Amino acid sequence: MERLQKVISNSGVSSRRKAEELILNGKVSVNGEVIRELGTKVNGNDIVTVNGEVLRRERKEYYLLYKPREVISSVSDDKGRKTVVDLIDTKARIYPIGRLDYDTTGIILLTNDGELSNILMHPSRDVTKEYYAKVKGFFIKEDALKLSGGIMLNGVKTKPAKFKLDKYDKKSDTSYVKVIITEGRNHQVRNMFMALGYDTVKLKREKYAFLDLKGLRSGEYRELTTHEVKQLYSLK
Ligand code: URA
Repeated sequence: MERLQKVISNSGVSSRRKAEELILNGKVSVNGEVIRELGTKVNGNDIVTVNGEVLRRERKEYYLLYKPREVISSVSDDKGRKTVVDLIDTKARIYPIGRLDYDTTGIILLTNDGELSNILMHPSRDVTKEYYAKVKGFFIKEDALKLSGGIMLNGVKTKPAKFKLDKYDKKSDTSYVKVIITEGRNHQVRNMFMALGYDTVKLKREKYAFLDLKGLRSGEYRELTTHEVKQLYSLK
């Protein structure tokens, strides 16, 4: 038996808090009966409807994908480009947790567990993401300090981060930089480099929280273990 608001948020329809509002506003019914009590528990056979639509309750699935370049981080694409979901062999309605740019490679999680997705995507959660970036020019120490301390991006200061030069290739005049951020704004790493005049040539996400790409090649994926899912929940 699970609490009704948890079942609703798990199915990805809404956050836990929104699910509670839906219940209080009489938008949820169980086996045809409108339920307004937040404590109500349901089992796997109960038919739950939200706004008149029956909730599909699938087994929860969790994948860790090594995203290649030229793959879009969404469920479908109107331009017919390959998506991260296309790379995973499942019938479940999974979607990516956050995004990587079309040309960014590396680790991305996919799931049909709306509750976990909401937890990890919440701005206060500060999930660490580690990137390895190749940028044009010599990445000077002052700029590493500026980016690590936070810069203004679209009128909002970025949270403390770590930007550290790993190596510089004189021949091609490119720097390899290790980056750790906790936010997930659109094109954040590229825009941060750009703000100080560096063009990002390549970007790879090597870690998401405690998860890395060990054992996977580009385009490959694996399911998360139960223990890993529990650990992700505990980031709460
Ligand atoms: N930052 C970016 O600029 N791009 C990504 O894909 C991820 C983080």
